[in-house]
Order: sequence, then structure tokens, then C-alpha cells
Amino acid sequence: MLENDNASTHNLDAIIDKWKDVKGSLVMMLHAVQNEYGYVPREAAMRISQRAGIHLAKIYEVLTFYHFFKLNAPAKYQISVCTGTACYLKGADNVIKELEHELGLKAGETTSDGKFSVAALRCLGCCVLAPVMTINGKIYGQVKPADIPSILREVSKGEE
Ligand code: FES
Repeated sequence: MLENDNASTHNLDAIIDKWKDVKGSLVMMLHAVQNEYGYVPREAAMRISQRAGIHLAKIYEVLTFYHFFKLNAPAKYQISVCTGTACYLKGADNVIKELEHELGLKAGETTSDGKFSVAALRCLGCCVLAPVMTINGKIYGQVKPADIPSILREVSKGEE
């Protein structure tokens, strides 16, 4: 991926060069890489290893220790369902079950085509709309399981 993209590789090299001589900066470097790509691609980890002289195992030790680092490309449509108390009491688990059924995955997974991911998250602060889910940050309130097929159709409209 990165090998065929000169601009992307140039940006990656600039990130590595900015941090490689700063002691204890591996986490900062990986943050910058994730900001650039939305995750930390394996190719990027390998390039950091080569260019900054950091063992690949050390890089993955850091990547897997901190939960905020993503090792896979984010789905095109990132669905999050609030499982906070108000949403839970209003049936958030049934919303998740319907998403799992419609998309053929389990919460925490991404569809094999990389199009949809489903994750549970804690209170979004709009409990009055419970149960709440978001798709790429857009809020859907008072979601019923029966609404899920039409929401998914609407989101991916124009792709077929
Ligand atoms: S509990 Fe879901 S938005 Fe607050």
C-alpha cells in the first residue's frame, strides 16, 4: 500500500524523521501515523522499524498495549451503538443484535468488504434520544431494530 504511494510514503518518512531522534517518542510517532492513515498499517510499522531502527516487536508491543491504536483500516461506515444505562434500558442490545444480523458480523468486527463496522460505546450524552447509535458521527436517536435495514440502505445508497 505505502510502497505505491509516493506522497503517502513521503508523509510517513517526515513523521518518522520528526520523532526518530527524540528519546521515548515512539508513542507520539505512532499517534502521528494513525492521524495520517486512520490506523497504523503494517507497512508503516515496518518502515518505522527500518528508518528509525526500532525493533518491529517493540513497535507491536506498544501498538497492542494501548487500546487507542488501530491495526486495521477503519470501515467506510463506522457504526457505534451506545450501551450506556439509558440506551441499554431502551433496548440498545436489540439494536446491536439487529445490526449483527443484517451485516453478518459481531459487535467489534468489520464486514469482510471493509464497508461497515459495529462497536458498542458508552454514553454519548444525548440520553433523551435513547437508544442512540451513530454512523460516522451522525446521531440516530430512538432507534428501533426494525429501523436498521432502512438506515443501512439509506447510508449505502448510491453505491450500487
Ligand atoms: S446512555 Fe446512551 S446516550 Fe446516554
